[in-house]
Amino acid sequence: MDQDIVKIFDTTLRDGEQSPGASMNTEEKIKIAKQLEKLKVDIIEAGFAAASPGDFNAIKRISEVVEGSIVCSLARALEKDIKAAADAIAMAKKKRIHTFIATSPIHMEYKLKMKPEDVIKRAVDSVTYARTFVDDVEFSCEDAGRSEIGFLKEILDEVIKAGATTLNIPDTVGYRLPHEMGELIKELHTFVGNRATLSVHCHNDLGLAVANSMFSILNGARQIECTINGLGERAGNAALEEVVMILKTRKDIFGNIDTKINTKEIVPSSRLVANITGIEPQPNKAIVGKNAFAHESGIHQDGVLKNSQTYEIMSASEIGLDQSSSIVLGKHSGRHAFREKIKELGFEVGEDELNRAFDRFKLLCDKKKEVYDDDIRMIIGDETSNIPNTFELIGIQLSDCSLGGMPYAAISIKHEEKITNDAAIGNGSIDAIFKTIDRVCGYSGQLLDYKVEAVSRGKDALAKVVVKVVFDDDKPAVIGHGLNIDTILASGKAYVNALNSYLSMKEFLKSKMDDSQGI
Ligand code: KIV
Ligand code: ZN
Repeated sequence: MDQDIVKIFDTTLRDGEQSPGASMNTEEKIKIAKQLEKLKVDIIEAGFAAASPGDFNAIKRISEVVEGSIVCSLARALEKDIKAAADAIAMAKKKRIHTFIATSPIHMEYKLKMKPEDVIKRAVDSVTYARTFVDDVEFSCEDAGRSEIGFLKEILDEVIKAGATTLNIPDTVGYRLPHEMGELIKELHTFVGNRATLSVHCHNDLGLAVANSMFSILNGARQIECTINGLGERAGNAALEEVVMILKTRKDIFGNIDTKINTKEIVPSSRLVANITGIEPQPNKAIVGKNAFAHESGIHQDGVLKNSQTYEIMSASEIGLDQSSSIVLGKHSGRHAFREKIKELGFEVGEDELNRAFDRFKLLCDKKKEVYDDDIRMIIGDETSNIPNTFELIGIQLSDCSLGGMPYAAISIKHEEKITNDAAIGNGSIDAIFKTIDRVCGYSGQLLDYKVEAVSRGKDALAKVVVKVVFDDDKPAVIGHGLNIDTILASGKAYVNALNSYLSMKEFLKSKMDDSQGI
């Protein structure tokens, strides 16, 4: 039986970035784009070129490095947006422009203040203009979930004639129920036939984004717009990993319909996105939550040990979790084995990064009984971060952590080859550390979020601390990561990393301003 392929259009870097607090810098976006290419997504929506110089630059850089997936930029149905999108993706091997305009009565009347006939004209003009740059043009009817079907047919008919090759039906506000979404797609599919690919883009406001996507596939949609970990505006988009694994697991319902996704890259993709954005999937999140393959009850554990299929409908290795590895690293492993392990985990690193990571691995082996793949992934992630170490945390000493006491922290920080020591008290150890770092470095951060979790198993597990800090009310919050076997040191490192990230963002914005002023 021939496979019937559903294209996976990943919008983690565009709609996903619209999740509150998920903004990413260019280097982080490039890392995610490369991972999405490995995951074998068909299309990467790399951003919204006209939104900001930072977005434009990130799309341009992604277009230069991604070869296997189509690189796409979003554009409002405006000439200047479409031109910016075309310029940003110009270098991509395979490219697409995605243009959109709202089609629901409420959006047309109140947001666009346009008559339906003018909306159709604008859509046609935009698709026509986009086709002067690329052959692959997607058109979206924003808020299609609340649009009139007669109007949808009218506008889709016109944009097909103007050259649109993919027609996207977004349930922008996550309003539809699965059977309603299915009926809408069925009617539109009959109407469009094979003149263009029908796509859906479902939001999760009522927790139905994935269900609505699946009912759309059953009724003719052959492109699904989705994000890693279900990130996205408000309650998010359909989660890529869920859509893909439903198709794989329920062949009895979906038959030969499948995707081209390399499912073994699902967990690495999920981890990378969580790490970069600082937004961890909830523990009970389907497929990629920490508990998704954990069996707590004795009856379940007994069943799984006898036959995993008693309580597991998918295997953990299918999604890249706990894959049995040919290389087990330990205290006596050398650089060669370490290099091979890194390759096996799918990383490409330079010689300097490899050497630094190897030194950290050796230090870790002295402190920790077993070193897991997750530990290695974290060390590599840390060492390949492109944030310059403007400030470097050398050490922390804490005193008086007694009940009712007043903790204070003494800190050593290196900056431009000079080491400064200082100490301050705080309402708790972490508060004391962060206040002292502020004082030594001459900045004042407002801590918005602090999370700590164990990277792998055991009391000697590496601690990963993620902080979200605002250093300047006029600039967005930055995420900082810290990794150490000692949670206190990991916390200090995370805060210093956030400060370094803020300084590098400031530097980047300044260089953009200088560029635009011709300096
Ligand atoms: O939710 C939405 O309607 C969108 C479009 C721009 C596709 O994100
Ligand atoms: Zn959306």
